[in-house]
Amino acid sequence: MKPIWPYLAQDYSGVYITQAKGAYLYSKSGNKILDAAGGAIVNNIGHGRKEVAEVIKQATIKNSYVLPPWTTPEREELVEELTEYWLPSELNRIHLSSGGSEANEAAIKISIQYQASKGKAKKNLILNRSLSYHGTTISMTGISGHTARKRGLESYLIEPHSIETPYPLRCPLGKHHPEAKDYYLNNLEEVIKSLGAENIAALIAEPLNGSSGGAIAPPQGYWLEAQKILTENEILLIADEVMTGFGRVGKKFACDLYGLKPDIIVAGKGMAGGYAAIAGTYTTNKIAESIKQAGYEVMFHTFAALPLSCAAATCVLKILRKEKLVEASAAIGKKLKDHLTEELKENPLVAEIRGEGLLLGIEVVKNKDTLELFEEKEKITSKIINYAFSEGVFFYPGGTGEVRDIICLGPPFIINDAEIDFIVSSLKKSLDHIKSKYL
Ligand SMILES: Cc1ncc(COP(=O)(O)O)c(C=O)c1O
Repeated sequence: MKPIWPYLAQDYSGVYITQAKGAYLYSKSGNKILDAAGGAIVNNIGHGRKEVAEVIKQATIKNSYVLPPWTTPEREELVEELTEYWLPSELNRIHLSSGGSEANEAAIKISIQYQASKGKAKKNLILNRSLSYHGTTISMTGISGHTARKRGLESYLIEPHSIETPYPLRCPLGKHHPEAKDYYLNNLEEVIKSLGAENIAALIAEPLNGSSGGAIAPPQGYWLEAQKILTENEILLIADEVMTGFGRVGKKFACDLYGLKPDIIVAGKGMAGGYAAIAGTYTTNKIAESIKQAGYEVMFHTFAALPLSCAAATCVLKILRKEKLVEASAAIGKKLKDHLTEELKENPLVAEIRGEGLLLGIEVVKNKDTLELFEEKEKITSKIINYAFSEGVFFYPGGTGEVRDIICLGPPFIINDAEIDFIVSSLKKSLDHIKSKYL
């Protein structure tokens, strides 16, 4: 096979998938692989559902391409599905795009335009978090707290204004320190103070950190207090739920885990479960109307809201509802996490097993007590993933280079008990393989 882009820390050369069905991938060399990552933590209803293919076909026959701002039945039905069943009632203004990076770009533009529409054009800085991933465009690469993906671009990228990602395991005060919440809230307040609230438009954050850190949750109570601080300083909150949205964490959105009410939610991946390229930026009437009144344009991408993508998303979202798959994500996720905990808690390589619903992360370290990492050049994550792949399970690599050796799990919401067992035993074998080589 000819080499193709992209170049990644994880070497995927030689992987050739001929078919994906249910929770499985089938390779050209005849292997059956359990997709414990749903691709890039995307697939939720399982691969190869014919009813999704059918609506895509019908939409293509009826409306192959229609200018994004015009209405079509496929667009109308998606908006109805989203506003009636999925989105928080206040987030009823929808901007569609083709992927998470574009949707986050839109969120940043909306935040800055909103502040400008209120006569605060200087309130234009975006706070990010030290450990985060928001996408792969130039501005999202700059805004993300992801060292490895910035390499070779540092001279060109915007310098982000970062607050610390609450990371209880590695809190500078100590592991899961009782004052971790206050530590991270103080950090937020200090950064706002040093930049000046009058200069900050928004904070972009994953409420439950995705693959950059591997499902890191903040200390209990953090989010509501953080939101209060942001509101007091008239700083918008953009919840990047590209990975966590639409049931992945066992709730419709990760914001629901914390009672969080952001000004903007961005969600993609699970929105159409990988059947089509679609993501959304969801905001309030207040914000959308203010931008409109000011006469600012919010331009579309050519392939935004393709009728076939809208039809696919509506169909996937209806399947999630009809088959109660968000509830399944919570229940199966709990089983999987409990089983992983039972089997791996005492493993000397496992620092933490964390996450919600079917977004789980396992942090692998050289020394469990000191949390010392393996050296980056050892490529431990790749070794674990490759070993598990040869056993018949695909896990997703997490981490940012500086933070590393995070194994992410994000299977479709349809896996059964036997598949849970298989995931756990394969991961255990892969870790034993590392243990035998390094400890
Ligand atoms: C939290 C988060 N935001 C944004 C993105 C970027 O989305 P996309 O790859 O669809 O552009 C991702 C992708 O992994 C993500 O996990």
